[in-house]
Amino acid sequence: TIYQATCSAPVNIAVIKYWGKRDTSLILPTNDSLSVTLDQDHLRSVTTARADASFDGQDRLWLNGEEEVIKPDGRLRRCIDEMKKLRQAKEAKDASLPKLSEWAVRVCSENNFPTAAGLASSASGFAALIASLAALYELQPEVSTSELSRIARQGSGSACRSLFGGYVAWQGGEQASGQDSLAVEVAPQSHWPDLQALICVVSDAKKGTPSTAGMQRTVQTSPLLQHRIKDVVPQRMKDISAAIQNKDFDTFANITMADSNNFHACCLDTAPPIFYMNDVSRAIVQLTEELNRASEAEGKGKLAAYTYDAGPNAVLYAPKANMPTILQTIRHYFPNADFDDTFDLLGKGANAS
Ligand code: DP6
Repeated sequence: TIYQATCSAPVNIAVIKYWGKRDTSLILPTNDSLSVTLDQDHLRSVTTARADASFDGQDRLWLNGEEEVIKPDGRLRRCIDEMKKLRQAKEAKDASLPKLSEWAVRVCSENNFPTAAGLASSASGFAALIASLAALYELQPEVSTSELSRIARQGSGSACRSLFGGYVAWQGGEQASGQDSLAVEVAPQSHWPDLQALICVVSDAKKGTPSTAGMQRTVQTSPLLQHRIKDVVPQRMKDISAAIQNKDFDTFANITMADSNNFHACCLDTAPPIFYMNDVSRAIVQLTEELNRASEAEGKGKLAAYTYDAGPNAVLYAPKANMPTILQTIRHYFPNADFDDTFDLLGKGANAS
């Protein structure tokens, strides 16, 4: 028998940003966050995991064809170990099962987009790793997707949200153990299928401050982050969840743009400051604001919402009907821009293929 499973997982883009850890080893965040999972047509990771009694003792992993070192105290090690523990618990209950937990695994993962370009490759990568190991070890449905998200979180914080499709909250939790720090579905993609995302790849170069290091510098130096954690995010989590339930795009857009700007303000409030947005990013902000102003003047409500992660690329969320206007306007004002206009429908989370 061959014991092997392949799963894919999409990228998610936060509308309430995760930025800062209260525990850097367990990856426990300083605040709750909320994201929308994109479809798998453009940005996804595909991972195959195989267990075999004949593999030597070492677990091994290849990312886009190159072998990664699995460091003894690293994130990959922790994720694989936690998954093996869950398999072990299953084997303990059923003696007839093959002892896959005792065999080494070989893992092969591919992204269909450039890594570390601020396009959330670690999120889809770790989500696909956890999903493929869960399938290999036949853990579901006994182990829930939220329980798996707790392990994906230890690979990369944002990865916990990519195990679900649609609208997903990462509940930061309070416990020191991290038991209550996991992802939950706010609404499935089918609840509000009219919302679409447009990714403007301003730059796909790997540069700038990586989010893992950047967010801790913010935790250590930014007074504004403390205000964000205490006074800003809790109310926004409630309000945007309600906006999603009510399919209220105006409120969704207002909160999404405000939270992106608050996150980048915290980056600027960091010592030394971190700049993720560039002139093109800021021009897209101004263009969106102007489109929204004109649309509201016609009594039509907001046209689009922008959000930016740890890089210059813009993600625009908008109802489907607004997308042609948005694309046309962007092409008009950036005739020479070489950014791909990747058009993504929102989609389902990690799944077996
Ligand atoms: C700006 O999840 O990449 O995209 O937990 O250290 O791996 P680690 O960080 P990561 O940070 C993502 C930050 C963000 C906001 C977000 O996705 O919520």
